[in-house]
Amino acid sequence: MDKILFGGDYNPEQWPEQIWDTDMELLAKAHVDTLTVNVFSWATLQPDEHTYDFAVLDRVLSTLAGAGKRVCLATSTAAHPAWMARKYPDVTRVDFEGRRHVFGQRHNSCPNSATYRRFSVELARRIAQRYGAGHPDSGIIAAWHVNNEYGGTCYCEHCGVAFRAWLRDRYGTLDALNAAWNTAFWSHTFHAWEEIVPPNALSEHWGGPNVTAFQPITLDYCRFNSDSMLANFVDEKAAIGQFSDLPVTTNFMGMYRPLDYFAWAPHLDFVSWDNYPPDMASHARMGLTHDLMRGLKAGQPFWLMEQSPSQTSCRPFNPLKRPGVMRLWSYQGVAHGADAVLFFQMRQSRGASEKDHGAVINHAGRSDTRVFGEVAALGEELESLAGEIVGARTRANVALVFDWDSWWAVEISDGPSRHVSYQETLIAYYGALYEQNVSVDVVPTGADLSAYQIVVAPLLHMVQGGVAERVEAFVRAGGVFVTSFLSGLVDESDNALLTDAPGPFARVLGIRIDETDALAPGVLNSVVFSADPDANGIGGGPGAVRFTADLVFDLVQPAGAEVVGVYESDFYTGMAAVTRNVVGDAELPGEAWYVGTNLGADGLGWLFARMLAARGLLNRYSGVPGVEAVARYRDDVRYLFLLNHGEADSVVAVDRDAVCLLTGAQVSAGASIRLAGKDVMILKSIRS
Ligand code: GLA
Ligand code: ZN
Repeated sequence: MDKILFGGDYNPEQWPEQIWDTDMELLAKAHVDTLTVNVFSWATLQPDEHTYDFAVLDRVLSTLAGAGKRVCLATSTAAHPAWMARKYPDVTRVDFEGRRHVFGQRHNSCPNSATYRRFSVELARRIAQRYGAGHPDSGIIAAWHVNNEYGGTCYCEHCGVAFRAWLRDRYGTLDALNAAWNTAFWSHTFHAWEEIVPPNALSEHWGGPNVTAFQPITLDYCRFNSDSMLANFVDEKAAIGQFSDLPVTTNFMGMYRPLDYFAWAPHLDFVSWDNYPPDMASHARMGLTHDLMRGLKAGQPFWLMEQSPSQTSCRPFNPLKRPGVMRLWSYQGVAHGADAVLFFQMRQSRGASEKDHGAVINHAGRSDTRVFGEVAALGEELESLAGEIVGARTRANVALVFDWDSWWAVEISDGPSRHVSYQETLIAYYGALYEQNVSVDVVPTGADLSAYQIVVAPLLHMVQGGVAERVEAFVRAGGVFVTSFLSGLVDESDNALLTDAPGPFARVLGIRIDETDALAPGVLNSVVFSADPDANGIGGGPGAVRFTADLVFDLVQPAGAEVVGVYESDFYTGMAAVTRNVVGDAELPGEAWYVGTNLGADGLGWLFARMLAARGLLNRYSGVPGVEAVARYRDDVRYLFLLNHGEADSVVAVDRDAVCLLTGAQVSAGASIRLAGKDVMILKSIRS
């Protein structure tokens, strides 16, 4: 279907069947075409070990087929049935404190339980066998949805056994493992594989999941846990593949630390994710997360699998999406690469933890609510966009490197600061680019960088897989590389690199760091820049600007780099905080920038505005306050999305002759258009 899919999770099995026909009428009214079903039905699909019962699911699918819907069919394996936990306690998890859980909640299965693996794969196989092909309603299935929001961690004995097998595979010998883990420290030398246990509160951790006495063990457990759940996904996918060629996905959770989605992505046919931002002002965070999701499969469009039409229910308080916000955020997803706009959920739950969660149809079953009205209007609009946008791609000159290994390593590190958040730091750097309305591809450390002009890699803590060599080649070829404090410090096992910091990046950055200060949150220093970094007039002078910085302060010693910003207080007053190394003597030589402190948003904004300007990467929409401009391209067609995140109207001068796909209005290059608060325009133009 050459249109943006619209709909979402539908759980009719929670309702008397008489209501289903009403639902079909309401969903037609809301212009819903795609429904995700069967996400949490294991206990009804398999009432006991030997019985499978597809009667309800059969009727759900025939109802949806009758209503002309398409289906994203889930495998129901994200919550095991109570009988299974009772009869086979090994399916439950052991938590961080070492407590074996009994039945309850969801996302509750041990990924390494042989019982869970056997039953979950068998369920996926039977569902695929029944509905994959040859069933009267097979034709309505558009995609398979394995499990749901894989996540969490298990520390049980089965995981212990599997962890040791995983380690044998990774290291081959205990000697190699002892060397990689630096086990001479605190008498940790292992003499038998069986001595190694999962690192939880009973073992290495003494202050929660981030506070470990032995980083290399914890780090490998993070990798192992991610791989364990990935193995569950791969097994179910293979079972489905026996009966169906349709694409298979599982819904990701955006920037979710426990799972290395770059390692997962090659196994998914397409990426999908659930967007539940932590607050109402997260536009840059959402932009980054959409870009990360698009980057997981190198730019391939993804599905926005879930979002609330109004509010969530899992937080201590749950704000409503203000009028227009659901539409605005839906289009933001589309602008960044989504080809589906789906919600959780269609009809509001009657009981349990999501009875207050927003839904398209409320408890009273009304279609004259504000939320229903906004959903239906968006559905109608998306229908009118049929033939447009779907499949269009993003074009970016700037890449942001995102690295789960560095994320884990930075946040489990003892020292220099426990207050550095990987996510917040990446959001801050991304935010500086976002403010300028510059498109960003989010890439893994292994990516080919040659297509980009600027590569930004904050907190690139761990150096592995030749990333330093690729960065150096990129800069030598004329690229601009930017990295930050806490970069280039450890190897793949989190051991310090036995060289000047920042390790293998030191040469291309033209700097050396002997000391890093880390101060309490709230203790500020400031970095002073000359107004013009090219003037080389450091530390004040006319037009100098200063920005605050906190948390971490590298005492940077230039070794070839020019000093761009210096500290203004403490014993390192006047020492370099920000440097730039110009590499090569081409007309546009490469540059390697180092930002040695946690510069606030203002400082990063200032720096990136200059860097982008110097490379000619600013555009007509750069710095327009509150308005996000982001484009997708198909051949010579450009779809430019203008998204006004502000409350007030904004006036924007457009850069090309175009037609607005939402209003039909023609606009000419240079004309100023007025965009109301929370409103959206999609300007289609054709490059002649
Ligand atoms: C997640 C889950 C859904 C539902 C929503 C509620 O994304 O996948 O099953 O619980 O959260 O926000
Ligand atoms: Zn386990």
